[in-house]
Amino acid sequence: MKRLLFAVCLSAVAASALAAGAGDPKPAKSTDGEYFDANGNPTYNIGADGTVDWYTFIGYRMYGANCLQCHGPDALGSSYAPSLVNSLKNLSTQDVQGTIINGKRDVTASQELVMPSFGENKNVMCYLDPIYVYLRARSDGALGRERPTKHEPRPDDWQKTVDGCFG
Ligand code: HEC
Repeated sequence: MKRLLFAVCLSAVAASALAAGAGDPKPAKSTDGEYFDANGNPTYNIGADGTVDWYTFIGYRMYGANCLQCHGPDALGSSYAPSLVNSLKNLSTQDVQGTIINGKRDVTASQELVMPSFGENKNVMCYLDPIYVYLRARSDGALGRERPTKHEPRPDDWQKTVDGCFG
């Protein structure tokens, strides 16, 4: 009986380690205004005075244009789509971006949850990292509910990168 309890405790620890979302958001490097954590995943950089990096700033706007109608203002959820502030606490970067690209559905007799796939939608695909970084900052509590006002300057090549994506 003792042994069994021990096994249960261990698996609880393993589950909580897995539930760490994308892990430590601390920026380890940056290229052209985009920040990356030690694992190479996109992350935010928010100064003590509230200045946000360019990607978080653009992500806020692109979330508002493409996701807010279902996931609610400030990513807090609605009656028909989950709070992404909560979801990202348990999802890796790849989980989140994979769901945005491929969509997700959970349809049963009592509910119909359908996340559309955005893989063919350039208004979302060209801003995948900014949208992710904004949600990561919201989920970590690094960014409040207010519209970010101060932001780092637009990276020199930004327009070229976006134009290149839209083709
Ligand atoms: C038409 C409504 C709708 C729109 C627009 C929408 N979503 Fe969703 N999304 C959903 C629903 C419903 C679910 C839950 C699907 C499920 O549980 O199977 C979901 C699930 C998700 C999940 C997975 C959450 C989890 O806990 O696994 C992520 C991440 C996500 N959406 C991100 C986004 C982003 C980012 C955008 C904007 C680019 C977006 N969604 C736009 C309805 C929407």
